[in-house]
Amino acid sequence: MEEHLTVGRVAELAGVSVRTLHHYDEIGLVRPSARTAAGYRAYSAGDVERLREVLAYRRLGFGLREIADLVDDPATDAVAHLHRLRGLLLEQRDRADAMVTAIDTELRARAMGIRTTSEEQLRMFGGAQLYESIGSAYPATRRTEPRIAARVWDALGDARTVLNVGAGTGSYEPPDRDVTAVEPSAVMRALRPAGAAPCVAATAERLPFEDQSFDAAMAFSTVHHWHDPIAGLREMRRVARRVVVFTHDASDAGWRQRFWLSRDYLPEVAGLVAGRPSVDQLARAIGARLEPVLIPWDCADGFFEAHWRRPEAYLDEHVRRAVSVWTRVGPEAEQRAVSGLRDDLSSGQWAERNRDLIDLDAAELGLRLLVA
Ligand SMILES: C[S@@+](CC[C@H](N)C(=O)[O-])C[C@H]1O[C@@H](n2cnc3c(N)ncnc32)[C@H](O)[C@@H]1O
Repeated sequence: MEEHLTVGRVAELAGVSVRTLHHYDEIGLVRPSARTAAGYRAYSAGDVERLREVLAYRRLGFGLREIADLVDDPATDAVAHLHRLRGLLLEQRDRADAMVTAIDTELRARAMGIRTTSEEQLRMFGGAQLYESIGSAYPATRRTEPRIAARVWDALGDARTVLNVGAGTGSYEPPDRDVTAVEPSAVMRALRPAGAAPCVAATAERLPFEDQSFDAAMAFSTVHHWHDPIAGLREMRRVARRVVVFTHDASDAGWRQRFWLSRDYLPEVAGLVAGRPSVDQLARAIGARLEPVLIPWDCADGFFEAHWRRPEAYLDEHVRRAVSVWTRVGPEAEQRAVSGLRDDLSSGQWAERNRDLIDLDAAELGLRLLVA
């Protein structure tokens, strides 16, 4: 008979409380597969392996629902989890080292009576902070939408070598080409699946490649995060002969007024795009043509606009946490938008106001492909 550990022994060895283990059992996260004769929970080797993964992700700051998605993913075996955890821990250690160095530098400066500037003080947190905090929620709902991927891959033409800038977890990397990824967020890099294309830690604005190093450069759903989108696009143009960018037209008519979520519930998105270059300016910067991309009603990738015909999805915290807009508008606006939507769904107001959407298979909500 397989050896089991009692709940008390597991708690002692892992340094967690028995109460925590009971809670994990109750929510279905780690269910011990046996009971002792006295009725205590008993953990098999497999249960312990799962618990070990859960506790390690927990220590890295992941939420319990995100952890459930990670450990339940049938495509990730124990060895893949160990590789991913190792990568995340090394990144965390590097970040802590960098912060210690920055603090030492500031202490030395202060001891000499020198005050560091506000910019220097903030630099210790490095770039891409947003995705350091939301990145762990990303894999729950963000994945390849095959119909949109086909458009991107088609636009790449016969390119054999492809640079994917702001690559995230690599959802849109073409499987049949030689891909190099660029991604500034350590968390996103660590979440890339085993076997994904090699990934370089860098930003779009300063691509560490020679001129014309790639047949094509692509960027999917990332340009709106760049500090300087025009500089980033010019960099893509410099390192590749062809450029393909998937982004959105953030103008009033193109997006804010057209999409019911931003128009009726989350007007704060206007503040997020204020002062950013328009999609026409982006296209002009690299001499690109603009092609509209319709969003299928059952879009598989959970980006902001993806659930336009499935409004209940936005009530789900999981769906919102994987989209940066919700974090950027702040908890107050988020809660107000969600409760407004919930009320309108139950009163029938939403359905009344959006009657014209119900029969559509795909919607034009300002998503654009830039091809240069
Ligand atoms: C919405 S995610 C998209 C990820 C991926 N392209 C996809 O479609 O799944 C945006 C990504 O842009 C990255 N990013 C943010 N600032 C960037 C910059 N200046 N240069 C390149 N990438 C950046 C973020 O770290 C994040 O991974």
